[in-house]
Order: sequence, then structure tokens, then C-alpha cells
Amino acid sequence: MPVLADISVLATCRSSGGQADIHPIPDAALVWQDDTIQWVGPETELPSEYVGEERQSAVGRLVIPGLVDCHTHLAFGGWRADEFALRIEGADYLDIARAGGGIASTMRHTRAASEDDLAERAAGHLVEMRKLGVTTVEAKSGYGLTVEDELKTLRVYRRLAETQPTRIVPTLLGAHIVPPEFKADRAAYIRLLADEIIPQVAEKGLARFCDVFVEDTAFSPDEARTIFAAGTEHGLRPKLHADQLSDTDGAALAAEVGAASADHLEYISDEGIAAMAEAGVVAVSLPLATLYLNVRPLPARALIEAGVAVAVATDFNPGSAPSYHLPLAMMLACTMQRMTPAEVLKGATVIASQAVGMNDTVGSLEAGKRADFVVIDAPDVNHWLYHFRPNACVRTVIGGETVWSA
Ligand code: NIG
Ligand code: FE
Repeated sequence: MPVLADISVLATCRSSGGQADIHPIPDAALVWQDDTIQWVGPETELPSEYVGEERQSAVGRLVIPGLVDCHTHLAFGGWRADEFALRIEGADYLDIARAGGGIASTMRHTRAASEDDLAERAAGHLVEMRKLGVTTVEAKSGYGLTVEDELKTLRVYRRLAETQPTRIVPTLLGAHIVPPEFKADRAAYIRLLADEIIPQVAEKGLARFCDVFVEDTAFSPDEARTIFAAGTEHGLRPKLHADQLSDTDGAALAAEVGAASADHLEYISDEGIAAMAEAGVVAVSLPLATLYLNVRPLPARALIEAGVAVAVATDFNPGSAPSYHLPLAMMLACTMQRMTPAEVLKGATVIASQAVGMNDTVGSLEAGKRADFVVIDAPDVNHWLYHFRPNACVRTVIGGETVWSA
């Protein structure tokens, strides 16, 4: 039964309390057996039964729960560096989309890619994410947009879940855009989603959530209601891309349909904030997308003051957020959204695990939860997110197994 000692601070990140309550334990120790945490507490209070067990040292470093990236578009074909350059020169993200670029461009590359190629590339990303301390990853489809290509992407996630140590939470985002071949008949695509894609995905157990991009160039709130109704009927809980580029009442819709989370929310209204607080919907902030698209930051302070829990994730995708660096997103959440490092850490651990329905097992360091933890080469949380480095993570453990060590 390994005992990790000499921990400067162990941020337990238990869910109780407010956004800033990470329940830190100074001079801590952590005990686990197989894949489960047995005990955490001050080292001076280590129960005698553990004293003779295998002792490991954290050399006076910070220990946090394994990070949970609760919003990614992990598997996709191609990249879109050309659009990055065009946007810098003044082109608008939605204009590029209207001209057939954007998500439709990645859709073409993803349809053309084999299942093996998609899996190999995504597995490579997961390796790099583990080095950064990311142990659980939500992964969306949404670049296939045919029955077969959505199933193909979700089979990639199933394969990754079986072959990679990272915990994968798959989400169906069949409603990312209306694919070009359905442009003249949007209703037919929504029927395809409701009558074929959602039932087949659910029947094969390939996704836990059903996500819809609610936006001018994607789906209206009414279309989203139809899609969510089909998803809910088949056991897929709603999630939304909402109020990212304009206020579409996405936050209120998330509250109405009982979504696990509403994500992006840069243009959320005061009414939307109140509705989310009332319904207990988690807000997922994606500061890399905010930065890359050069839009206004999510009003994190207003959300937190209203009582909404705010998660922080990467949105890793080839268009609006071509980076899987969750600690970078966390630093940006501090500087752009005025969240404190403690608030951000809670947002990328236990609150993120809530957003993907994994909070029974991961997201915090307490007896009974999975032994997913990360050793950070910093004395405390403030110092970690303040002195930003390419990688401060020196060890990543998933289910009691070390999967990365610097
Ligand atoms: O989360 N907002 C919609 N979907 C993605 C962008 C995907 C893309 O540009 O390929 C997002 O930002
Ligand atoms: Fe996204």
C-alpha cells in the first residue's frame, strides 16, 4: 500500500463549499491501494497501520487531483492553420463557416480519415495530455455528421478507453452543424439525428451525453429541443455549446432541458445566469477558444456570485482552440476571467468531473475515490498558475499506476 509523503500542500478539491474551497492540507500524506485512495491527511496524523508501508516522497511539492478536461473535440482529421492566418488578417469565424470552411472543412477531412488513423492521432494527443496532468477527458464526435462517420468517431473513443489509461467520457455532437448535403432540408438532418444517429449510438452504448451547438450558423433553440428530446429518450443527457458568439438564450435552454453543462457562454445574459443558477447547470469556461477567436471573456465573476459552478476546459479542436494544454487554459482563466488559482483548480477537477457525471469516482482526493493524482513542481496552487512553464507536472498517476514521470 504506497504512501506518498513530503507533500507541501495536498489540494483535496472536495466538492463542498464554494468555488474557491479546494480544502488544502499542508504537509500532507496520501495512501492508496490498487486503484483506490485509502486515506489523505496531515502527515503527522498518518494512522499507524500505514507507517510501515512503502514510502514515496513528493519532495515538498504540490499534489492535486488528476485534471479533468471536460470539453474536447479529440478526434478529427486535418488541421486549419490557413484559417488561423485568415482570422488574424480580419476574416470572421462565422463568415469562414458560411463560406464552407470551419467545421465543414474538418468534417471533410474526418470523413476521409480511417478509424485507425483517427485513433492513432488522438492517442498521441492523450499521451501529451497525461504529461500535463490530465487524467480524464471528455471527447465529442461532431466532425462526421453521417450515421457511419459519427459511429466511426465514437468507436475511436471506445477503442481509446480500452487501450489508453486516460479515462474517456464520450459525447455525441451530431448536431455540430447541418452538413452541407442537407442544406436545402435542415429538418431531414434533424430527423436523421433523432431517428437514426441517436438511437444507434445509444443502443451501442457509444456515448453518455448529447451535445448541440446552438448558434446562428448551427442549430436554433427549437431544433435543439427536438434533438435533446430524442437524446433524453435514449438516455443521453443534454450538454450545450451555448452563447459563444452571440446571445441565443442558450443558457436558459440548458436550464430548461436539465443539461449537465452549458459551455462557452461568453455572451450569456443576466437572465441566463439566473436560470443556470436555479437549475444547477455547470458552466464550462473555455478560455483558449475565447482567446483564439478574440471574443469577450466569460463573465466568471457574475456566474460565481450567482452561485453557478464554473468548470475550466480546453475545447481542444482544430478551429477555435487548437491546443490541449489545460494548465495554459487554467492560467488564462485566471488572467482573462479574473478567477483565482484556487477557483480555477476546483473548476478543472471536481467541478469538471460534475460536468461529465464522473464526480462519484474522480475529481477530488478523498478516501474511496480513484487514485488519480498529479505531482506539480510548485510549492502551492498560486505559485503553479502564476509562474507559467511549458510543463510543471512531474508525475501523473491514474488508478494507482504511474503513467508519466518527468
Ligand atoms: O467548441 N462552437 C462550436 N464548436 C467548436 C469549434 C469547432 C471548430 O471550429 O472546429 C467549439 O469552439
Ligand atoms: Fe467545443
